[in-house]
Amino acid sequence: LAADALRHLALDERAKAHIEQDQVLRPLFERMAARYIGGATLPECLERITAVNAQGHAATVDYMGENTRDAAKAHAETEEFLRLVQALQGRQFNSSVSLDLSHIGLIIEPEICHYNAGRIAAAAREIGTEMIVSMEWSARTDLILAAYERLCSEHSNVGITCQARLHRTPADLDRLLTLPGKIRLVKGAYQETADVAYPRGSDELRATFLGLACRLIASGHPCSIATHDPDLLDELETFITAGGWRAQPYEFEMLTGLGNLEGLRQRGHPTREYVVYGREWFLYLCNRLAEEPERLFTAVADALGA
Ligand code: FDA
Repeated sequence: LAADALRHLALDERAKAHIEQDQVLRPLFERMAARYIGGATLPECLERITAVNAQGHAATVDYMGENTRDAAKAHAETEEFLRLVQALQGRQFNSSVSLDLSHIGLIIEPEICHYNAGRIAAAAREIGTEMIVSMEWSARTDLILAAYERLCSEHSNVGITCQARLHRTPADLDRLLTLPGKIRLVKGAYQETADVAYPRGSDELRATFLGLACRLIASGHPCSIATHDPDLLDELETFITAGGWRAQPYEFEMLTGLGNLEGLRQRGHPTREYVVYGREWFLYLCNRLAEEPERLFTAVADALGA
């Protein structure tokens, strides 16, 4: 129930506007979000990346946003990504860039998206880093994969995210493994129906994630295993040790404020923290809380400063 309520809240523009304008609620929600985001501004985010790198983890940074419906806004958001890449170069961070293609024009016009994404990918390549494309809900999978394949034909430093939940993903992986880009495997965060995806928290989803992660690691293809699920991580560590896969180009990746990346690093695995920043934190916060409603208790404690 709590998860459903949070998902509805996340999509409710009126509730969002009310909270953003309310003198009491806004600071409370901002304190809840602080655990999960790298800051509202680029300088705040750079501080977070400095700390993440100092802890021995690589980073990837996402300037939060999706579903941009106006071309001028898509170009303006692209400029912020370019400022981000420039800032990463200035201070020699160990960080890539991650983004939603719908943030920079995908649902306005694929050509706009291709132009904007190409500029960010080229800037990232100049500083020797990657641009990883996030995966959105299943109605967009074909569009995103087509945009990714086109970007791959022009840029060698672009990677993609795959959702283990989707029944189509094993077949998509056959195709993606023929392209050079890094593949990030996640469970999948969007509301989907049973005909396209396994239910959240199901045994089938966990088994599928495990199978796909093992396949990626053993393939020798650059990959990121992105989960906070402690049981899955235990099984994957066992798989890596037993199979002698330590030298493969894999890494474990987690979102800021979730999971135990440090334990993996201490046991010798490459690790990366996914840091988001920006002012669109409301939807992001609701999604994190909806995934694990027990996080509400932590959120309330954060809000009260306890
Ligand atoms: P999940 O949240 O299902 O948790 C599994 C189990 O672990 C649960 O039993 C839970 O109680 C336990 N658990 C979780 N956190 C714990 C903790 N801190 N300590 C102890 N136990 C804990 N999605 C998407 O659709 N498109 C995308 O592009 C991306 N991108 C992305 C990048 C990265 C780096 C990550 C980590 C995730 C994404 N996601 C995503 C989100 C992803 O699809 C998924 O919704 C979340 O990662 C949650 O799923 P988990 O696998 O982490 O475990």
